[in-house]
Amino acid sequence: MNAAGYAKSVDHVRKLAQVPLTTHIVVGGITCAAQEGNTGGTNFVQVGNDFFNSLGLPNKGKEWLRSNLPEMCNIAIDTGKKLVVNISGGTPQEYVDLGVVAHEGGADIVELNLSCPNKFGPGGKQSDMFAFDVAAMDMLKVLWRERLGTKIETWWKLSPYANPMERVRIAQFLYTTDAARVTLCNTFPNARPRDKDSKLLVTAKNTNGRAGLSGEGLRIISQINVEHFRELLPTRIGINGAGGIDSGTVLEEYRQLGCDGMQVAGAFMINEDVSVLHDIAAQWADNYFPVEAEA
Ligand SMILES: Cc1cc2nc3c(=O)[nH]c(=O)nc-3n(C[C@H](O)[C@H](O)[C@H](O)COP(=O)(O)O)c2cc1C
Repeated sequence: MNAAGYAKSVDHVRKLAQVPLTTHIVVGGITCAAQEGNTGGTNFVQVGNDFFNSLGLPNKGKEWLRSNLPEMCNIAIDTGKKLVVNISGGTPQEYVDLGVVAHEGGADIVELNLSCPNKFGPGGKQSDMFAFDVAAMDMLKVLWRERLGTKIETWWKLSPYANPMERVRIAQFLYTTDAARVTLCNTFPNARPRDKDSKLLVTAKNTNGRAGLSGEGLRIISQINVEHFRELLPTRIGINGAGGIDSGTVLEEYRQLGCDGMQVAGAFMINEDVSVLHDIAAQWADNYFPVEAEA
């Protein structure tokens, strides 16, 4: 499936629905208020096989989602795919408010984005991430359970953690939730790509050149997280792998590590070419899908 960050319009969902080999369409990220994200300069670049984005969640907000979600869900249903809404709240209550809109609009799944590193305020002040704050995630869990229970399947999207004991603490917390899957991982924070003259490539206002790293540079870090979390989590919690998936071979690597789903962002988003999603899945199917020998 596509990873969050691309589908911000009904037209985008229509394009994703036409990709034959994907099973889910991920819409968003959506925040409560409409916002422009980080503008006023470059906010997404490719360097070699790495991607650096500092989009900062540009999107049309909760009311747009309320008005357009039923149509997007119908498009997904018509093509036999599940519709996932990726949401990002500033507070636990905002997550719940967005979750209610996603549920009422007919989405199959909500993905809680707890790990966007590209939220910058005036003067470059960076927001904290829920994924590093168990107390905040616990508050979200309680409010979510009160309002939504298990009415809608929920995925928790996490950061690429470096500290193994932090992964243990997060996994212990996830045991207490109704998470159906975790998505591993969001981008690695605060990369500062430069050109050959050391000039910063990300120039959007308030970012100070900082961006989330994804693509090949994130791949091994994501895979370390996938492998460790697979050991730590109960089997009832599945894993979506994300990070540097750009071929059927890499898709298979994630599958072998125990992933139930795989998400692709940079490789197709850089040129907004959804056929890349099909090519990756087709390459996997050709090389790894076990076909019974004909009698
Ligand atoms: C341009 C861009 C925008 C993104 N926006 C979001 C977002 O809105 N919500 C989210 O949860 N993740 C977002 N991500 C993170 C991706 O969904 C994904 O987790 C990450 O990029 C790793 O995948 P990749 O290596 O295939 O790019 C974004 C990534 C990119 C490159």
